[in-house]
Amino acid sequence: MTRPTLGWVGAGRAASGMARALAAHGWHIETVTSRSGESARMLAESVGARATADPAEVSGDLVILAVPDGAIAEAAARLAESPASWVGRAVVHTSGATEIAVLTPLAARGAQIGGLHPAYPFSSDRTLTPSLSGVTFAVEGDADPLRRWLTALVDSLEGRLLTLPPGARPVYHAALVFASNYTITLIGLAARLMESFGASPDAAKGALDSLVAGMVENVRREGAVAALPGPLARVDLGTLTAHMQALRQMNPDAARLYAELARATYPILRARGVSTDRLADIERALVED
Ligand SMILES: NC(=O)c1ccc[n+]([C@@H]2O[C@H](COP(=O)([O-])OP(=O)(O)OC[C@H]3O[C@@H](n4cnc5c(N)ncnc54)[C@H](OP(=O)(O)O)[C@@H]3O)[C@@H](O)[C@H]2O)c1
Repeated sequence: MTRPTLGWVGAGRAASGMARALAAHGWHIETVTSRSGESARMLAESVGARATADPAEVSGDLVILAVPDGAIAEAAARLAESPASWVGRAVVHTSGATEIAVLTPLAARGAQIGGLHPAYPFSSDRTLTPSLSGVTFAVEGDADPLRRWLTALVDSLEGRLLTLPPGARPVYHAALVFASNYTITLIGLAARLMESFGASPDAAKGALDSLVAGMVENVRREGAVAALPGPLARVDLGTLTAHMQALRQMNPDAARLYAELARATYPILRARGVSTDRLADIERALVED
């Protein structure tokens, strides 16, 4: 297949990481545009493209909008207002949460529209070229040739393609937020609990860093069900009771969250063979004073 040429709108974290990785794999990027212009010039220079401030000059068979979610509609409208022809071209955005319908003004001009969301946290250092090998790209857009173009793009990066059916986007993105954002929320809470008995921030961070790194490695190797350690996995009722009593005294919100997270772990415990009776024992340990 002849590869489509690319145009980028946005030159921030996602655009820089993706465009640099694609350029390193031989993709031809024609133009880059951004809000300020300076970031577009920097990215364009590093990937052999032309920076432009004029939406009418945004070229490329496949135009990738990597602007903040709140700016996608405006950026799409500006592109759609330009006199450039969109027939035979395609436009995707890189948002996980925003519906594809936001690109409708471009579809009305003849472009095929879709989504290409990398499930990957790009660095704030825009000069890095990340390896996106193994990264999942959630793709929406069935029309041909858009679908072939996106598949070729993901394949060339050795990424994994996940097709999003219509309507799945909010649940898909919420799942990523659970796995990524809320893991960080819990690490922050754990650090504050450690500091509450006098551990320094450095000591708390040191303890949690290697714990979390080991946990992530185990989940990667064995999957979530086999990797779960701790009092729930051991059905250690005495430890669960002690945790709940201590947390209720010093931080009732943390106690409530602890119990809810334990309950959210029941499907994993069931998959490990923990019986309904033992789950009832756990439930009692969580609620008893
Ligand atoms: N960051 C990630 O790890 C990540 C991962 C997956 C998906 N995404 C998605 O990628 C998209 C971009 O996120 P990001 O983190 O890369 O944001 P970002 O770092 O803030 O960069 C946004 C870029 O968009 C430009 N921009 C803002 N408004 C614009 C407009 N109206 N027209 C043209 N360009 C405009 C900005 O220009 P200036 O440079 O001039 O400010 C900047 O280059 C979002 O939809 C996000 O959900 C991000």
